[in-house]
Amino acid sequence: MTDAAIRVQGIEKSFKDLAVLKGVDFEVERGSIFALLGSNGAGKTTLVRILSTLLKADAGSAAVHGFDIASQAQDVRESISLTGQFAAVDEILSGRENLVLIAQLRHLENPGAVADDLLARFSLTEAGSRRAGTYSGGMRRRLDIAMSLIGDPPIIFLDEPTTGLDPEARIEVWQTVKKLAASGTTVLLTTQYLDEAEQLADRIAILNRGTIIQNGTLAELKRLLPQAKVEYVEKQPTLEEVFLALVGEEKKEAA
Ligand SMILES: Nc1ncnc2c1ncn2[C@@H]1O[C@H](COP(=O)(O)OP(=O)(O)O)[C@@H](O)[C@H]1O
Ligand SMILES: [Mg+2]
Repeated sequence: MTDAAIRVQGIEKSFKDLAVLKGVDFEVERGSIFALLGSNGAGKTTLVRILSTLLKADAGSAAVHGFDIASQAQDVRESISLTGQFAAVDEILSGRENLVLIAQLRHLENPGAVADDLLARFSLTEAGSRRAGTYSGGMRRRLDIAMSLIGDPPIIFLDEPTTGLDPEARIEVWQTVKKLAASGTTVLLTTQYLDEAEQLADRIAILNRGTIIQNGTLAELKRLLPQAKVEYVEKQPTLEEVFLALVGEEKKEAA
């Protein structure tokens, strides 16, 4: 028995003739950030839906926070939160009202205080009374993640948390995810972006054609390729650095 937060063994899933997952195995250590990297259609969302008990696997098993996804689904659900690719924020409500609503649904004692604490943690205090419909993509995604943290789940699934966000908003979300992991939450995130996995993850698993074809730390994955030839070139800023230098500075919370 390992102390893994998530343990996945031989998970298989087909949709009719389409075999999406053909035996997926991996473990996620407690308090770490694990990135499941795969291109569009690789089966990332399918796997996340199976691990969060929204979908049944055809074969294999998995334990989440020590609970079996098949026989202890309710315990699994109480141990996780899931933030999907498309933000679940109510645009008519203010950011604070969105948070209070979820805290009330979860029967927490002081929903207002829970909301204010999360607004502060996610740098949304000033925007808190504004309708969420007026938020930028990054703010909305941050609010969405904040909503999913109500009730302090030990494990959080983030399914493509930055798809569709602009570079500044992506960096905001990255900082949020890093803070989460630093506070002890286990994060399993899916992404199709190499740089996102590189920035965030303690371990990276590559899902390709239904199986995990590589799983390791960034350093381990880099060692799989022969060492790059040393070349002397002028260091050019990346386009992202240029973009952020031009538009970044003056917007912080306003972004
Ligand atoms: N409910 C479903 N019915 C049929 N096919 C599905 C269903 N859900 C996903 N698929 C298919 O399974 C494959 C993997 O989808 P998905 O898990 O959403 O991939 P990813 O999240 O990596 O982009 C895709 O080809 C998708 O069309
Ligand atoms: Mg997906």
